[in-house]
Amino acid sequence: MAAVLDSVRALFAPKIDTAFLIDRENPGDVLARERLLDAAMGPNRRRKSSETIRRHRVPAEGLALVARDASGHVIATVRLWNIQAGITPAGRAVPALLLGPLAVDPAHEGQGIGGALMRAAILEAKKSGHGAILLVGDPDYYERFGFSALKAKTLMMPGPFERHRFLGLELTEGWLKGAAGVIVPTGRRLSCPSEGTTPWPQAPRTSAGY
Ligand SMILES: CC(C)(COP(=O)(O)OP(=O)(O)OC[C@H]1O[C@@H](n2cnc3c(N)ncnc32)[C@H](O)[C@@H]1OP(=O)(O)O)[C@@H](O)C(=O)NCCC(=O)NCCS
Repeated sequence: MAAVLDSVRALFAPKIDTAFLIDRENPGDVLARERLLDAAMGPNRRRKSSETIRRHRVPAEGLALVARDASGHVIATVRLWNIQAGITPAGRAVPALLLGPLAVDPAHEGQGIGGALMRAAILEAKKSGHGAILLVGDPDYYERFGFSALKAKTLMMPGPFERHRFLGLELTEGWLKGAAGVIVPTGRRLSCPSEGTTPWPQAPRTSAGY
């Protein structure tokens, strides 16, 4: 893993002002990650439809990645989540991943860190045998990694979403062909200390995506 991620980093080294390393997230990163997401995405970030998929779930195995600066501080984060991406006309459930949120510390934007993290995440997902990734985000940003609205056109988010921002990438050609329906979470559930409580206040969902 480290070798693969380092090679992704090396590929983008010419653009980079900040020395960084891409690594797996660990439990000690939680606070830093939450602070970074607040700074990068603002207080409404938990109102997105994608949150329905992530809430009370554990990210897909090995697919919660961070970028660290030379001191080991988290400066970017991306997580992927197990989902079912509808069913085929033959009635086969289609397993896939939902990516998000992706965020880079505003102090380190525009240095290729988001791109390196995306490419590492895609590579790791493919190595783990996943067939496709879906996300809700700006097409202008994500098309450079191969995502397109065409691949998600017969799928729906479980809540308000903007169709042109709902994007898919096949890691195995034809994986999403014929897949239709509402995406649902299939990842392992997070064990909750007290049943019926939520770790943060709930708010109405928005269609902005991430
Ligand atoms: C979007 C984000 C992850 C990009 O990270 P980054 O490290 O700055 O990205 P990179 O340095 O790899 O790429 C920069 C390029 O992406 C472009 N870009 C950044 N955000 C973009 C967006 N929302 N739409 C289109 N292009 C975008 C930049 O203009 C730049 O283009 P260039 O290479 O032609 O100069 C980061 O800006 C961020 O965390 N934003 C806030 C959280 C967020 O919106 N996340 C979801 C994205 S939809």
